[in-house]
Amino acid sequence: MKKDFLSILDIDECELESIVTDAVRLKRLKSAGTAHEYLRGRSLGMIFEKASTRTRVSFEVGMSDLGGHALFLNPQDMQLGRGEEIRDTARALARYVDAVMIRAYSHATVEEFARYADVPVVNGLSDHEHPCQVLADIMTLSERFGDLHGLKFAWVGDGNNVCNSWILSSALTGMEIAVASPQRYRPKDEIVDQARAMGGKVTVVTDPNKAVRDADVLYTDIWVSMGDEKERSERLQALKSYTMDSRLVAQASPDALVMHCLPAHRGEEITDKVIEGPQSIVWDQAENRLHAQKALLVRLIAGGMPAGD
Ligand code: CP
Ligand code: NVA
Repeated sequence: MKKDFLSILDIDECELESIVTDAVRLKRLKSAGTAHEYLRGRSLGMIFEKASTRTRVSFEVGMSDLGGHALFLNPQDMQLGRGEEIRDTARALARYVDAVMIRAYSHATVEEFARYADVPVVNGLSDHEHPCQVLADIMTLSERFGDLHGLKFAWVGDGNNVCNSWILSSALTGMEIAVASPQRYRPKDEIVDQARAMGGKVTVVTDPNKAVRDADVLYTDIWVSMGDEKERSERLQALKSYTMDSRLVAQASPDALVMHCLPAHRGEEITDKVIEGPQSIVWDQAENRLHAQKALLVRLIAGGMPAGD
């Protein structure tokens, strides 16, 4: 049966560990210039309803590294833009390509696509989750810390799609997640409840100082996500005391790492000094999108990497 990756919880703890291990192997093979064409002759369709830099390029280069091919599909240039239904597009595309990555405004669109396509579907970001980002982030933290169990992770700012995937991932990694958001932009209770029901340790507070105290990892993301533009001024107002600045970073563990999925808005959710500072690992995160997604695709399309490389 085909397997989709719509949520970070579509994989279990073992699968997460094995994807991270494969991603590290793929990173090494690429850096050594060793061919690793595990998806030769395979194709990935990539549908982007919204803008992207990292997701688009990392999936496209990833397929090319693996000996396959990726197609960038803009809904406005497809019959989708003229009203063709998602379920019809999904069934037709699945007859041509080996997997589809879709970035959509609504998570329901991603789910509908996956329901009708009989090839693996990957969520390249929806309003609900951004599992590919968190997969790469977990790889990035594993490279730094090894075992992630018991690490303290603080999310500061909007309780958005990336935050949701992080909250849910606590059930897989054993990290303790503290989220600090203004009341209006806190993550939904159902996400927190889902993570807790699966053993995740999650707290939600309004005070960023509380969330970051002694944290090993600090994370923030833009305050106005794609699709939220009409609320821009309310969001900037509500979130203005949630900037990841040097004062906040100083309250975390002295070796705390600072993460951001990018794109960043310096001077809003993070200061220039912090993102450019020695604790920031944002470029490693961006790079690891490539390696982690390659490992994911090899698993979804070809059942995993051959042993021994
Ligand atoms: N972090 C991330 O998904 O970036 P893009 O929007 O550029 O793809
Ligand atoms: N939360 C952001 C992430 C961008 C990668 C958004 O959805 O726009």
